[in-house]
Amino acid sequence: MLKRIIACAICLILAVTAAGCGKKNDEKSDSKILLGFSQLGSESAWRIGNTRDIEEQAVSYDISLMLENANQKQENQIDAIRRFIAYKVDVIAFSPIVEEGWDNVLLEAKNAGIPVILVDRDISTRKVDLTTCLIGADFYQEGVMAAEYLIRKADALGMEHVNIVEITGTENSTPMRQRQAGFFDTIAADGRMTVLESIDGDFLKSRGAECMRYLLKTYSDTIDVVFSHNDEMTLGALPEIEKAGLVPGKDIIIISIDGGQDAIDVLKEGRINCVVECTPKLGKALMETVLMLKAGEKVDAVIHPEEQVFSDEQDLSQLAPRGY
Ligand code: AHR
Repeated sequence: MLKRIIACAICLILAVTAAGCGKKNDEKSDSKILLGFSQLGSESAWRIGNTRDIEEQAVSYDISLMLENANQKQENQIDAIRRFIAYKVDVIAFSPIVEEGWDNVLLEAKNAGIPVILVDRDISTRKVDLTTCLIGADFYQEGVMAAEYLIRKADALGMEHVNIVEITGTENSTPMRQRQAGFFDTIAADGRMTVLESIDGDFLKSRGAECMRYLLKTYSDTIDVVFSHNDEMTLGALPEIEKAGLVPGKDIIIISIDGGQDAIDVLKEGRINCVVECTPKLGKALMETVLMLKAGEKVDAVIHPEEQVFSDEQDLSQLAPRGY
């Protein structure tokens, strides 16, 4: 009891003093499990939907959530994890912005006896037993599905050469690496496909627009396809294509990833051609895993949600609202 009171007092002091410190959705009581979650930022509708889902699911599973938003900075995430350790939370979860650089802080969590769950993204420098599991999308498969759509589309249009530009997500992040690998591996056997350039759009709408302006200036009307690693960048790129006098969805095939409502709406309008789903709804699996860990049960090393492809090959008129 005394330990809990001291931990809560430290929490309160740090919450007031630390810049960017997050919030708790509930008061910690001794009977409740306390989960510390470090979200990487708010760069996209996907990320905002993911944060909301985790908050809602924590409430419905009666788990106290200590949530911190790192505003796109790895050092903020490392600081947040250290605060969770100081608070003696029961479980730590975090969405690593990039794959490298976590070993030291994860070793500190391990030494404190606090289990760590990776949410959404993976780490590449994992030492044995530093994390318990990963709950997130199969990003490689998303890249494969995007490429398979492109091959079907090129067949349907009878295209002999396909010039592709790729706007990637944050450099060295799991979705950037895996989506690119899945896409490239799948088009590799198709002699029609040429990747003119891959450019880092950092998953941001403003960067999507900037990248598209640069790509149009560099390759003008030779671009057949834009493969964009998320909806946010796609939505930034579309007006730039239109300003250049081209018709997105017709003059240029547009393939996006996420499947948020705004992207589905422009898909229905015919301004993009395909959206590979990446669901942000990871909260339920996270809370169930937290409960299992606290009960001393074994958890699966990797938990991937089911995902699908939305495209101009389908009738989307009855598609339910996406919720993000
Ligand atoms: O890690 C998931 C990716 O991060 C989503 O595709 C993107 O929208 C988000 O910013």
